[in-house]
Amino acid sequence: MFRNFKTVPYVVFGRGGFNQLDTILLEKRRNPEGFMVFLVDDVFADKDLRNRIPAGPRDLTLWVNVDDEPKTAYVDQLTEKVRDFSEDLPDGVIGIGGGSTMDLAKAVSLMLTNPGSSADYQGWDLILHPGVYHVGIPTLAGTGAEASRTTVLCGPDKKLGINSDYTPFDQIILDPELLSGAPSDQRFYTGMDCYIHCVESLSGSFLNAFSRSYGQKAMDLCREVFLDGGPESDDKLMVASYFGGMSIAYSQVGICHALSYGLSFVLEIHHGIGNCLAFDKLEEYYPEGVAEFRHMMKKHTIHLPWHLLPASGEQEIEKMVDVALVLEPLWENALGPDWRGIMTRDKIKKLYERILT
Ligand SMILES: NC(=O)c1ccc[n+]([C@@H]2O[C@H](COP(=O)([O-])OP(=O)(O)OC[C@H]3O[C@@H](n4cnc5c(N)ncnc54)[C@H](O)[C@@H]3O)[C@@H](O)[C@H]2O)c1
Ligand SMILES: [Fe+2]
Repeated sequence: MFRNFKTVPYVVFGRGGFNQLDTILLEKRRNPEGFMVFLVDDVFADKDLRNRIPAGPRDLTLWVNVDDEPKTAYVDQLTEKVRDFSEDLPDGVIGIGGGSTMDLAKAVSLMLTNPGSSADYQGWDLILHPGVYHVGIPTLAGTGAEASRTTVLCGPDKKLGINSDYTPFDQIILDPELLSGAPSDQRFYTGMDCYIHCVESLSGSFLNAFSRSYGQKAMDLCREVFLDGGPESDDKLMVASYFGGMSIAYSQVGICHALSYGLSFVLEIHHGIGNCLAFDKLEEYYPEGVAEFRHMMKKHTIHLPWHLLPASGEQEIEKMVDVALVLEPLWENALGPDWRGIMTRDKIKKLYERILT
């Protein structure tokens, strides 16, 4: 059986594309009593973008804080806020921000139409009903969250996405202008998420011509952005992120992502940073990728924030191993169907010890 995967049906790409949001939403406003929910990264609360959001008087704007990566409890809280605002469903949920904000928007859209807590749906294909119409507008590029069928959440006992055919956005707007204010180190870490998606996809056992084509193009673009630079870098990075997402849609990520999830769940290390910290210690598995990554770091004078990793005890490392081991498809992609014989619990523990020292 081949994967029958869902993609985003409508894509706007281009500088200034954000200005089309109003017209796009107009078609989706069902009646004069309806409303839209704008879920916006609070980093923009005092920026110009705030005044460009096409929110009408009946709409709800929720400023979200992503100092911590999205948690299921936060999704449930935001969903409650929308329910408290109106007993009707909104006509749409629009997420404006990086991967964290886009994931929050996807999750709230799903939880408005599905009972219980978002933690109940962490896994594969557990969502029962289609969510509310949802739009994603990235302000950072690299995660591929704009393209993917998942919303990654930290729950009470695991970091795992809500993976479903209802999760992908109905519309995305890729406007490279929105990347302009991102701090350079954050831009690098999120961009490396894309680079690592490509390395893991292109070296994985799930690879096919579809996935390879997107992955290679995304990797070429990452090289142009992070090794050559130039005026079109933000445009290229935005396309790379989307293509990287498309590549892993038909393959998977690998060892670096599995380890990064454990770092994120136990130590609250953000995804892009966690990936970089883990990837730097994985030259045994991805020698060429790690060498090129170091070259990119040097070029951008990035010093990895090892200080964010506190001294971790036995119990914490065991928990990280538990979190990483849940991600079976990632290990299988990286090491093949017999991965359990290759990557033992003890070996994963040693990898964590290498990262943490
Ligand atoms: N759904 C998916 O397929 C998928 C894939 C990979 C990662 N993720 C998730 O994405 C998240 C990481 O996303 P990210 O790396 O894009 O970062 P982020 O959304 O966590 O944001 C990082 C920081 O950058 C700030 N920021 C965002 N845009 C900005 C801008 N234009 N200017 C200034 N500051 C800005 C944010 O406020 C935040 O402080 C993680 O939660 C991860 O789990 C999801
Ligand atoms: Fe990632």
